[in-house]
Amino acid sequence: MAIRRILREGDETLRKTSRPVTEIDKRLKTLLDDMADTMYAADGVGLAAPQVGVLRRVVVIDVGEGLLELINPEIVETEGSYVDVEGCLSVPGRRATVERPERCVVQAINRKGQLIEVEGTGLLARALCHELDHLDGVLYVDKIIEDVTGREDE
Ligand code: NI
Repeated sequence: MAIRRILREGDETLRKTSRPVTEIDKRLKTLLDDMADTMYAADGVGLAAPQVGVLRRVVVIDVGEGLLELINPEIVETEGSYVDVEGCLSVPGRRATVERPERCVVQAINRKGQLIEVEGTGLLARALCHELDHLDGVLYVDKIIEDVTGREDE
């Protein structure tokens, strides 16, 4: 397990489209382990593989409900929308509001190769949409409604 370097906004890798995973091998499992380590070390709630320079469709998320490892995730259902504050480990020091679905359902495979379905509402729905955007080269800064950097929240 190791902590990897997180690419920052401005790095072209973050703007590329990631390719689907075709084989769950040792290398991929190491990537998943390292991504979780990197996310926790950075005190984040989600991390996508392109953020550590790997253009594969892999994300890890933990909004305080346990670690989710999603390989080739796809949003299959969304419902509602709401605006809330977001940040991104690739855009440190900045916070802004973004509109996201209130609820979403994602299908993916786990590290055992099993098809899984994750239903998220609120923060989890937001994290899922944010991380999946990374796989298509989209950053939340593309969707900002209002920059609230430096403002106290809650
Ligand atoms: Ni992000």
